[in-house]
Amino acid sequence: MFNTNQKIGILGGGQLGKMLCLAAANFDFKTYVLDAKSDYPAASVCTAFSEGDFKNFDHVWEFGQDKDLITIEIEHVNTEALHALEQAGKTVHPSPRALDLIKDKGLQKLFYRENNIPTAEFELFDDEKALKEAVNSGRWSLPLVQKTRTAGYDGKGVVILRNLADLTEKILPGPCLAEKLAPIQTEIAVIAARNANDEVSLFPAVEMAFHPEANLVEWLICPARIAPLVTAEAEALAERVIRTFDVCGLLAVEMFLTTDGQLLINEVAPRPHNSGHHTINSAVTSQFEQHLRAICNLPLGNTEQIMPAVMLNVLGEPAYKGPVRYEGVDACLALPGVHLHLYSKAHTAPFRKMGHVTVTASNLKTALENAQFVKNTLKVTS
Ligand SMILES: Nc1ncnc2c1ncn2[C@@H]1O[C@H](COP(=O)(O)OP(=O)(O)O)[C@@H](O)[C@H]1O
Ligand SMILES: [Mg+2]
Repeated sequence: MFNTNQKIGILGGGQLGKMLCLAAANFDFKTYVLDAKSDYPAASVCTAFSEGDFKNFDHVWEFGQDKDLITIEIEHVNTEALHALEQAGKTVHPSPRALDLIKDKGLQKLFYRENNIPTAEFELFDDEKALKEAVNSGRWSLPLVQKTRTAGYDGKGVVILRNLADLTEKILPGPCLAEKLAPIQTEIAVIAARNANDEVSLFPAVEMAFHPEANLVEWLICPARIAPLVTAEAEALAERVIRTFDVCGLLAVEMFLTTDGQLLINEVAPRPHNSGHHTINSAVTSQFEQHLRAICNLPLGNTEQIMPAVMLNVLGEPAYKGPVRYEGVDACLALPGVHLHLYSKAHTAPFRKMGHVTVTASNLKTALENAQFVKNTLKVTS
């Protein structure tokens, strides 16, 4: 229901929280953010900011007391407190149950297996020693992908173990899973949205190209350069996945299109996602507005793409750490269709996500050329 007086609580005050607050302001919705420090990105645009730890039961429980609706911008939050708030009558989207499944990559993969959702073959291990044994005994062969079960993000909890040297030098400690290395042709993402009336909408598939060193998405291309039949299949799969998780709000569904034309689910995120940033400038409805519509049980917005778009993350240059400086911005803004979004971070660090640029154009070729210019020209230094 549309209600400008309801208090929306957001766990996490990073860039996703910031852009969610900006979208909420258009509807005159009141946003309350919980995160560690009141100089975080969302602080300057939310209605009120509370300093606290979203991983701490008491902090989340207390934060939720006077809110009507609670959502997240990061999945690694204290879900026990969210369960308790839900039981106390608060609306929590995405549901704490779905969050419990998603924030543990092991449980997430088991969920796919149980529900016949296509995903790379895997096995869970108590720790890295058990995985080593499985390789040494020949039960698992190299190369394989190792993922830590919790707390990984932006490639930090993922390694490809290619040979026996990797097995001692690169292996990550703790509870983990091993996955078969998928023969990836293209990585894509489809952002789905669902409201409490069970209405579902899908943004067009986007193509993700990765930075080899930083292991972050480097280019995001929309529409993805894949066959229309594959797009339709990916959208149908994303719709099935959001309904199976029973999520209200956004669910970003990352998939691998394999060299033999199969679609495998890699992982999901029940919140706005890096692969949807371009929608602010290139789609009828942005992913952030769509998340608000979905969690407030409003009619979902039109997800049509108005113009082709290429998005690039604005990352800290590897050699700099300290108070941030942006170089080359004027030259980039002189190009048509360059949309700059900075996240209000005072300090840069190597490969830190400081902002993003969406480049729109009447055709993808021009958008890619202009995006390449931005990549060569816009530098984050100190
Ligand atoms: N089974 C796999 N086969 C091949 N590449 C993989 C596999 N799993 C992950 N990757 C690569 O690692 C990247 C990061 O893995 P992901 O599980 O999405 O972690 P993150 O939480 O860091 O996004 C993927 O986008 C993909 O490029
Ligand atoms: Mg991922």
